[in-house]
Amino acid sequence: MKSIIITGGAGFIGSHVVREFVNKYPNYQIVNLDALTYAGNLENLKDIEELPNYKFVKADITDLDKILEIFKAYLPDGVIHLAAESHVDRSIKNPAAFVMTNVVGTVNLLNAAKEIWNGHFDGKRFHHVSTDEVYGSLGEVGLFTENSRYEPHSPYSASKASSDHFVRAYHDTFGLPVVLTNCSNNYGPHHFPEKLIPLCIHNILHGKPLPIYGDGKFTRDWLFVIDHARAIDLVYHKGKNGGSYNIGGFNEWQNIDLVRELCKQMDEKLGRPAHTSEQLITFVKDRPGHDLRYAIDATKIHRELGYSPTVTFEQGLSKTIDWYLSNQEWLNRVTSGDYQQYYKMQYNG
Ligand code: NAD
Ligand code: DAU
Repeated sequence: MKSIIITGGAGFIGSHVVREFVNKYPNYQIVNLDALTYAGNLENLKDIEELPNYKFVKADITDLDKILEIFKAYLPDGVIHLAAESHVDRSIKNPAAFVMTNVVGTVNLLNAAKEIWNGHFDGKRFHHVSTDEVYGSLGEVGLFTENSRYEPHSPYSASKASSDHFVRAYHDTFGLPVVLTNCSNNYGPHHFPEKLIPLCIHNILHGKPLPIYGDGKFTRDWLFVIDHARAIDLVYHKGKNGGSYNIGGFNEWQNIDLVRELCKQMDEKLGRPAHTSEQLITFVKDRPGHDLRYAIDATKIHRELGYSPTVTFEQGLSKTIDWYLSNQEWLNRVTSGDYQQYYKMQYNG
């Protein structure tokens, strides 16, 4: 039986990746390694937690001794590394936490893999899950390709860029069999409501202001999270050793248009008069160092691995809203406690 350690499996994207692998590959032992920070939530995996090929291990990737102990116990053939501090606004408040988890944590995992594989790399794979933010910001035209220059601006993207460099360095220096993916903005069920879409869904439900940074003309390229999980599966199994693949849906939206669309769909689903929720839109102080535009050229993964997203934005957004409407207890639970403090600090309210 093959064994794969998936880090960050209790988080937003990680939980979808774990589910995809556990269900699709009953002959793989999937070990979900997660520290359960504010963003980790085992409730995201309730439907699969009893399956025999799934196991959860609580551990912090900044703790090398513990990571080595786990690697020696499970002897993974593969690592899919998603654990990270992932929110740009938090990285502006506390950059050091991002260096610890995203840089030091990644190097610890690389060292653990290098030690247990000990030069025997046949059938082994270290898949590092990264972001399009490492490329910095686009102007009004152009797309990020795999050859775009790294030019991160936020402490978050700088820490992810640094981790990407370490992953490549371990391939070039020690021969570690690695593959990288750089994906655009994800959305879907289990998305923590500090991020734009779930935050607005939560605030529309509670009649609270929808905070739009700056003039709202910032552009992101949105991909349904399950399509990201499918792409990870494909690259993990078929991606070229040492290679990297951009993942995106050719689906750009300015923030203000996206939030208006969300308001429209929410009003329809909640049976509220048209334009009710739109009135909650409030322009607030911009994010420092805010990147103007991200957009992925996903030609390589399509050409080499035959990947295409399966869910249109219209379908994905509708499924996402439906999930939050049917899971308001999940939303209530994750927005109690620490979330209230964070919200006050970030939005003064
Ligand atoms: P998330 O914040 O929802 O989840 C992160 C998970 O990592 C949580 O379960 C958390 O408990 C765990 N974690 C954090 N610090 C840890 C530590 N020190 N040790 C062990 N576990 C720890 O993040 P996400 O949005 O699901 O992102 C997952 C990965 O995908 C990240 O590497 C992120 O950079 C990348 N990514 C995210 C997006 C996006 O739109 N969300 C897009 C592209 C790439
Ligand atoms: O591009 C991939 C990245 O997408 C991932 O690597 C990150 O982990 C993920 O958090 C996401 O980063 P963004 O900064 O793009 O996502 P966020 O949801 O925080 O913001 C999306 C856009 O909305 C961005 O232009 C900032 C804006 N925004 C965000 C919030 C939270 C607002 O206008 N108001 C808000 O309250």
